[in-house]
Amino acid sequence: MTLDRRSFLLQSGSAAAVVALFGQGCAVPSPSSTALPGSVLGFTGVPASLRDGIVVPPEYEWQLLYPWGTPTGVTGRMPPFAPDARNSAEDQAVQAGMHHDGMHFFALDASGDRGLLVMNHEYTDEQLLHTDGVKEWTAEKVRKSLHAMGVSVIEVRRSGQGWQQVQPSPFARRVHGNTAMRIAGPAAGTPLMRTAANPAGDAVFGTFANCAMGVTPWGTYLTCEENFHGYFGGPKEAARNATPAQRRYGTVAGSQWVEYWRFEERFDLSRHPNEPHRFGWVVEIDPFDPTATPVKRTALGRKRQESATCTIAKDGRLVVYMGDDSRFEYIYKFVSRDKVRPGTDAAARAANRHLLDEGTLHAARYDTGGRGKWLELTHGRDGLDAAHGFADQAEVLIHARLAGDIVGATKMDRPEWIAIHPQSGEVYVTLTNNSQRGDAGKPGPDAANPRTNNLFGGILRWREDGGDAASPGFSWDHFALAGDPAQPGSGARYPSGDADMFGAPDGLHFDKGGLLWIQTDLSGQVLGKAPYTSLGNNQMLCADPASGRIKRFLTGPNGCEITGCVVTPDRRTLFVNIQHPGEARDDGDTKHNSAWPDGAEPGSARPRSATLAIRRRDGGIVGT
Ligand code: FEO
Ligand code: CA
Ligand code: CA
Repeated sequence: MTLDRRSFLLQSGSAAAVVALFGQGCAVPSPSSTALPGSVLGFTGVPASLRDGIVVPPEYEWQLLYPWGTPTGVTGRMPPFAPDARNSAEDQAVQAGMHHDGMHFFALDASGDRGLLVMNHEYTDEQLLHTDGVKEWTAEKVRKSLHAMGVSVIEVRRSGQGWQQVQPSPFARRVHGNTAMRIAGPAAGTPLMRTAANPAGDAVFGTFANCAMGVTPWGTYLTCEENFHGYFGGPKEAARNATPAQRRYGTVAGSQWVEYWRFEERFDLSRHPNEPHRFGWVVEIDPFDPTATPVKRTALGRKRQESATCTIAKDGRLVVYMGDDSRFEYIYKFVSRDKVRPGTDAAARAANRHLLDEGTLHAARYDTGGRGKWLELTHGRDGLDAAHGFADQAEVLIHARLAGDIVGATKMDRPEWIAIHPQSGEVYVTLTNNSQRGDAGKPGPDAANPRTNNLFGGILRWREDGGDAASPGFSWDHFALAGDPAQPGSGARYPSGDADMFGAPDGLHFDKGGLLWIQTDLSGQVLGKAPYTSLGNNQMLCADPASGRIKRFLTGPNGCEITGCVVTPDRRTLFVNIQHPGEARDDGDTKHNSAWPDGAEPGSARPRSATLAIRRRDGGIVGT
């Protein structure tokens, strides 16, 4: 390497100094700030569409960045993408992972023309990942699959030609399913976290199933481990011994999605029952230091983690909102014990290094009358004690779902992303859908989840009492109940008569002007089919919470989900991820119904998840 990373960072005046000048932290409401000029939702809305491609308003253009397999830009290690999937596991460890998801842009200079794009890679399509699929699993395929998930840090630059990835870059990094990590917080080192390979219970290899994300005020990236359970397996007979906690988290032998356990023993639940306790966390990554060890923050609780959306309470403590994406699971809030040291300079970053390790976790209860309460998940309080199966706070955190049951939190319709309005501080969450609401033996509708057989999901929002994120109580309402109002009994309700319809909202992002970007994830199995027909392919919309108007902005290729969204600080670029285009959903079906972005016809190329950089042709502010 002619210019190694450390010396580059030193030459740049250290990574921390770069952050000090230009990093952007989390959403901290600032009632005095005003939206930048420009009409709101002035773009030409696009119709719902089943077209196999990207459709944006005519006054916008998009370009492609960083499709699966693209070299990440690690100096001296940039294997080109092999369209026949011949890249090795070692190659994949330094290439774009699959299934791009949550994402953030960290500016590297004042112009915002240079920055780090940090994104999650949620899961793998094994049929696409390996030349011959996975009729036969091998140890090499397990490794490649683990390397195709996690996080990418890439450097991007803007010029007259748009955005380009910088390759190589001293910041380029892949964090994946075999990257060494530290475990911190109250659960670290406790009995349920100890394994044969790590008797100290304080270190683990890898993060995977990385879905939504968050950004701390001090400029680190939080990646969330969602469907980690599917990667742990074992012989079917072992399922007999599954504990209630294992069943609740879905880590039951025989129900695995992939056969990792046959080749890498830490994934075998019958031999290493504690290994899955080390997944399902929020993981903090310093994007500016490629040598920094990622840290799993156990104080935030273990769940199928969705979002770690940060803000600051009136007294200066950090507040993190999180969802748990399964049917009938909870919404959580963490309030740090200590105050955030403001800023993103080296001193602030050092002072905030342990901020996510001490604090109080809560689960939400949504009551009738639009009121709600945060219920503390603290050992020794409200039944969270040994008599109910919690030996200590570590067990409360590792089995946060069970703790939520004891305190009586509200079972939600699959909480996904959480976004905070930059001026009002109102918190919005997508509840993507729940077809089992009201089924026999399942919870029925309640105030916050009002529809039985909730096929289309919606967006709920709340306002903390006194405008203080640390408040124990809040007021809530529904921003939108999604769906097709023409469907009999759909119960769809939009905030205004001027709203385009959608279903299964998932990704959610507020830009600093207060526009709400909504992304959808209807399952590939239902796209184009009744009762979803008129919704078309998955899409992205822009909402103005002030007026309730919602306008469709983008529609995606066949089979894809639109997820991951960040508007640059100057609001002139919108980065969006296209995930799993053409996804084959049926077991054993290897056909994909799209070859986006490389081929025009399905079957002509392996479809690839990728990032879009979208801008107005006139260079104006997006969404206006
Ligand atoms: Fe990965 Fe809950 O979406
Ligand atoms: Ca999602
Ligand atoms: Ca989803």
